[in-house]
Amino acid sequence: MTQTAHSHRFSQNAKGMKASEIRELLKLTQRQEVISFAGGLPNPEAFPVEEMKPIINHVMDAHAADALQYGPTEGHNKLRNVIARGMGTTYGVTQNIQNILITHGSQQALSLLSHVLLDPGDAVITSAPSYLGALLTFRAFQAHIESVPLDGEGIRTDLLETKLESLSRDKKLPKFIYLIPTFQNPSGVTISLERRKRIYELICEHDLLLIEDDPYGFLRYEGKDVPLIKSLDEEDRVVYTSTFSKILAPGFRIAWMAGPREIVNRVCLAKQAQDLCANTFAQYCIFEAMYHNILFPNIEKIKRLYRGKRDLMLAAMEAHFPAQVSWNHPEGGLFVWVTLPAIIDARDMFIKAIANGVAYVVGDAFYPEGGGHNTMRLNFSHASDEMIEEGIRRLGDVIRQEMGEKEAALEDEVIGGF
Ligand SMILES: Cc1ncc(COP(=O)(O)O)c(C=O)c1O
Repeated sequence: MTQTAHSHRFSQNAKGMKASEIRELLKLTQRQEVISFAGGLPNPEAFPVEEMKPIINHVMDAHAADALQYGPTEGHNKLRNVIARGMGTTYGVTQNIQNILITHGSQQALSLLSHVLLDPGDAVITSAPSYLGALLTFRAFQAHIESVPLDGEGIRTDLLETKLESLSRDKKLPKFIYLIPTFQNPSGVTISLERRKRIYELICEHDLLLIEDDPYGFLRYEGKDVPLIKSLDEEDRVVYTSTFSKILAPGFRIAWMAGPREIVNRVCLAKQAQDLCANTFAQYCIFEAMYHNILFPNIEKIKRLYRGKRDLMLAAMEAHFPAQVSWNHPEGGLFVWVTLPAIIDARDMFIKAIANGVAYVVGDAFYPEGGGHNTMRLNFSHASDEMIEEGIRRLGDVIRQEMGEKEAALEDEVIGGF
């Protein structure tokens, strides 16, 4: 590392930190002329602006003394209580208030869990692909990330089984397995019930912890709900995390963790040292939004909005993408996962896409151990309907052009070789 004015001051941990290459690429997508399917942003139309104004006034009128004060590190008790009860009525998961901790986004939950569970060099297993924010966190704690491929039914449990057997033989079992079982970021895939059961059996067999990250579970547009892995958790070894980011607004930065009490308590100690407590005002606003029945009607509104956008994007892909490109049909969430012909490298194509005014996230960024060069993630929640149609048309043109160039280069190579 080159010596700079302050570089010698950094901790070993900070010395190992790198700017995410993907974040650098994403900066290009912020140009005005670019239609971006890259970020995972909710649509501002999904924010209940008018509904929240009286709620915020009410918090100020009736609860200012507490809502503007420091609060307990575990979180606002009324909010924890309503979440604990909601986990029971919605998912059949019996949780006590002591199992619930409020965090600043589920990203903080992932970071705090890493803080209390990981030593440098510890292994973590996730699927390939997996959520980039989690990979960045695990790397920041110097974990060794192992991955298992997924298919249309989620993580391949047959391969997970062999991976665990081999790690067990080498005495390198992971500290935990991290999964997003429902409408996964980035692939949109949901793990089938059969595989969820198998995952649970495997974590019990190997005495492991599972982190079940579920920011998108409420956003189902079709099909039937699949039970949470947490609902199978007879041995108390699943830490569940979810967030208000995608069902209310990410600006509140309020999420929750529901897990074994011992783990929640230790995470709470880490949180105390990190930020004392989550934003008290935001917690009061969210509790009142639930109490005054704003949250669930808003989720229905979001689902209508995003279902329409998903359908538009899928129809536009059908109309504009070459036949050699394939993609999935996510039943919920925010993302469509696209597989390009193997001759295309989505990373090489990215700059050309930007030049043509459209952006995506290159799929290989989501593969902890490499792979996925010909994949990409498209977000359908954020762009306007017109932008979805136009952006997909542009992307179709870019793909077609890239395929033409790659095929021509291949022919030249063959002729040259001949
Ligand atoms: C799978 C997953 N986990 C966690 C997060 C973090 O969400 P937040 O910190 O806003 O709760 C995201 C955000 O997109 C996500 O996709």
